[in-house]
Amino acid sequence: MKRTDHKFPAWPQFNEQSYMDIIEPLKSGKVNYWTGKKGKEFEEMFAAYSGAKMAVSCTSGTSAVHIAVAGLGIGPGDEVIVPSYTFIATSFAVLQAGAIPVFCDTATDHTMDPAKIEALISKRTKAIIVVHLYGIVCDMDAILSVAARHQLYVIEDSAQCLGGVYKGKKVGTVGHVGTFSFCQSKHFTTGGEGGMVITTDEEIGWSCRAFRDHGFDVKKRFDLLSLEEESDYVHNSVGYNYRMTEIQSIIGINELKRFETWNMPRRYRYAKMYDEALCGIQGIAALPLNTPERRNAYWEYPVILDLNCLDTDATGIIMELRELGIPVFKIQWPEAYKERVYREHNGFGSAKFPFESKEYTDAAAVDYTKVTCEVAASLRSKTLSLYLHPTWEEEDIQVCIDYFVTVLEKHYKP
Ligand SMILES: Cc1ncc(COP(=O)(O)O)c(C=O)c1O
Repeated sequence: MKRTDHKFPAWPQFNEQSYMDIIEPLKSGKVNYWTGKKGKEFEEMFAAYSGAKMAVSCTSGTSAVHIAVAGLGIGPGDEVIVPSYTFIATSFAVLQAGAIPVFCDTATDHTMDPAKIEALISKRTKAIIVVHLYGIVCDMDAILSVAARHQLYVIEDSAQCLGGVYKGKKVGTVGHVGTFSFCQSKHFTTGGEGGMVITTDEEIGWSCRAFRDHGFDVKKRFDLLSLEEESDYVHNSVGYNYRMTEIQSIIGINELKRFETWNMPRRYRYAKMYDEALCGIQGIAALPLNTPERRNAYWEYPVILDLNCLDTDATGIIMELRELGIPVFKIQWPEAYKERVYREHNGFGSAKFPFESKEYTDAAAVDYTKVTCEVAASLRSKTLSLYLHPTWEEEDIQVCIDYFVTVLEKHYKP
């Protein structure tokens, strides 16, 4: 088979309106969240789009999860259950708050297995972070019911799932707090980096807002500038500067404006093309879950191979497709507990906080060498991920389908 000379359109590309709009803050000098108006406008638009009461914009999807964890009052001495199968940022945000991540296995749909959560709950557990990986919406009722039985918060890391819907509610509004990433590769980007925290609970929202912004006093529900007019000393608790810039917010506003009319309809259309072409094909064990109750946001299109029918594994298929000029990605990281940071307890400073704290941490909880998430681990050799960027056209998807099917067929066992 010959390498394709097909040119796949680049991702991301921006709403051209942004080229004009970002000049305004550069001319006026109102370039930061507190001097300009666009940050607040983007937050209001995003909250309205999501059906949330509050949205807090921030610098990244990682800072969004950090804000969510800290905004819920979680810190040293606490444990948070997270899937092992996700980008490292999910569990790092727990560590950044001084708490301990406890890794949970995944079901074969790539999302946290609700049946495996309860065994991980200890007296220190405060929250569960679910991740709607690849855009696949988690089994939220089952997770919420475990959380309710044990009075735990649920954070939805929706970095890969903007536009996903669970039983009619947008992801991020089903649990207590939802977080999003606008990094370069995501559903849309606010110019390279960016993030958002949303909640339907105003108390939690203001707590997140304070943490995003140096821990300013939020009792009176004033913004930071009005508060500083009242008093010189306005910082009640520790916080960060995790603010988004005006230019990022302008780009976000323009991408959100076309999200439901351009971005998501294309993702759905391309997912349908993959579904129709790949369903029932020998060598494929599972396509990404999408049901009326768990509406997939199709960030990527993960396929689980049936290795019983093939003479190679996902890595073999990926290498061959890449050599043929087809963009394809491997599984996202299924076993975070194998990272050296966890195995070697490389936490903060020479104290290796929080891993080696006798006061705040139970030794058994951080013995990550003993952790195995069997299902997530088993998906490693079987999973590859196809792209469905909205800048692509149907013919781009068709090239991926044709090459993928041909390479699979080549590897059928006799
Ligand atoms: C599931 C998940 N959570 C969090 C993040 C962190 O987002 P960011 O890269 O914007 O910090 C990512 C980014 O890839 C992610 O995939």
